[in-house]
Amino acid sequence: MSKLIIKGGTELKGEIPISGAKNSALIILAASLLCDSETTITNVPDIEDIHRMIEIIESLGAKVSFNSGIIKIDPTTINTTVPNAQLVNKLRGSIVLAGPLLAKFHQATFSQPGGCLIGARPIDDHLDLFLQLGIKIIQNDKFYSLKGKPKSSDITLNKISVTATENAIMASVLSKGTTKIHVAAAEPEVADLINYLNKIGAKISYVGSHDITINGVNSLSGVKYEIIPDRIEAGTYLMVAIATNSSLKIGPVITDNLNIILKKLKMAGANFEIVSRNNKEYIFTKKSNSLISQNIDTRTYPGFPTDLQAQYATLMTRAKGTSNIFETLFEGRFLYIDEIKIMGADIKILSPHIVEVNGPTQLKGKEIISRDLRGGAALIIAALVANGTTIIDNTEYIDRGYESIDQKLKNVGADIERIDN
Ligand code: EPU
Repeated sequence: MSKLIIKGGTELKGEIPISGAKNSALIILAASLLCDSETTITNVPDIEDIHRMIEIIESLGAKVSFNSGIIKIDPTTINTTVPNAQLVNKLRGSIVLAGPLLAKFHQATFSQPGGCLIGARPIDDHLDLFLQLGIKIIQNDKFYSLKGKPKSSDITLNKISVTATENAIMASVLSKGTTKIHVAAAEPEVADLINYLNKIGAKISYVGSHDITINGVNSLSGVKYEIIPDRIEAGTYLMVAIATNSSLKIGPVITDNLNIILKKLKMAGANFEIVSRNNKEYIFTKKSNSLISQNIDTRTYPGFPTDLQAQYATLMTRAKGTSNIFETLFEGRFLYIDEIKIMGADIKILSPHIVEVNGPTQLKGKEIISRDLRGGAALIIAALVANGTTIIDNTEYIDRGYESIDQKLKNVGADIERIDN
């Protein structure tokens, strides 16, 4: 357990480096089990969720090392298709191991995966796609046992789901013949997975659309692959910069992956420019005049990401007028609202999916609790702009997805301390 003690009101200056994307790295780690030799993955964020995924992969018998952002995975020593249930329960994303295990070993047994408390997060869409690929599913109240060699087919996912799309792709890369996946998610992390798989020898065609075609291959062999920058981490620090009216250099980023976020920040009156240096893009934020309220509705990519909803709503407490924040994807993603209300935010919860933020309000430092990853990041933004000192408890949720968040903020002048208790 640890707490962050943040004294608000400081203007920040300098550079915030952006780490590799959590949700790419997690999936590409799972995909590396498909190889017949060692894979090296670079630009991997040093965060709790990655450590959990490594432990789960090790529980299958694979050899894994993680040093200075570089992971090496040797899957040739895998000796079971039943990942450790206790570890699986701590990481909902571990469901993506089912696809590669089925493709490679034609079986996988796993418990109901865990994760953040952001509403009901069933795995029915995953089970549905495995059934469509000809997999037999035996289920009891604790375990799912999946058996069979995925058959190439024309499948349609139940709805647009990031990890279900990734499971469908990974399950199918070694199937004989052609598999088509319709209603696929188009998030940049899905594209990163496809780029990795094609680099290790898969034949997947995809043009950023919701249809993916996979021509099965016999085997895949490990390569060196670099994870893309984390668009959610970049968006979070952009909102930190704009909320604190600071001049920061944030990057590297892929601005194409940030289009709707940059648009919504510009519309709110944020001032920034994009600069390319050595083939990498960076965002330079500048001081802006007062912010103007904006509405957002979270959507699958290329819509506004649910993973930045809490941070944007918190930014809107600084904006003049009323902002409607419509969370269309999850029903439990407003847990941070009670905490920023304690700090003085004027927010009404209109339904489990809609809140109304009235601003501008000056937040005040208080003792608050982080209840999930992205909501926790939003609380840090609130604390950085508040008058006085804020104590955020339960910060381990934030550490699941943000590499060294306190150190990165300290390096640009934030008054932030971590206390382990
Ligand atoms: N859903 C179902 N059944 C399923 C799977 C999903 O009903 O079997 C629902 C979900 O409850 C949700 C919607 O479908 O309402 C979309 O969820 P999706 O499946 O796309 O989410 P996910 O794949 O579980 C990934 C990210 C999340 C991110 C969402 C949405 C990973 C490992 N996780 O989750 O990341 O919020 O996509 O973009 O890629 C985070 O980083 O904080 C995080 C939670």
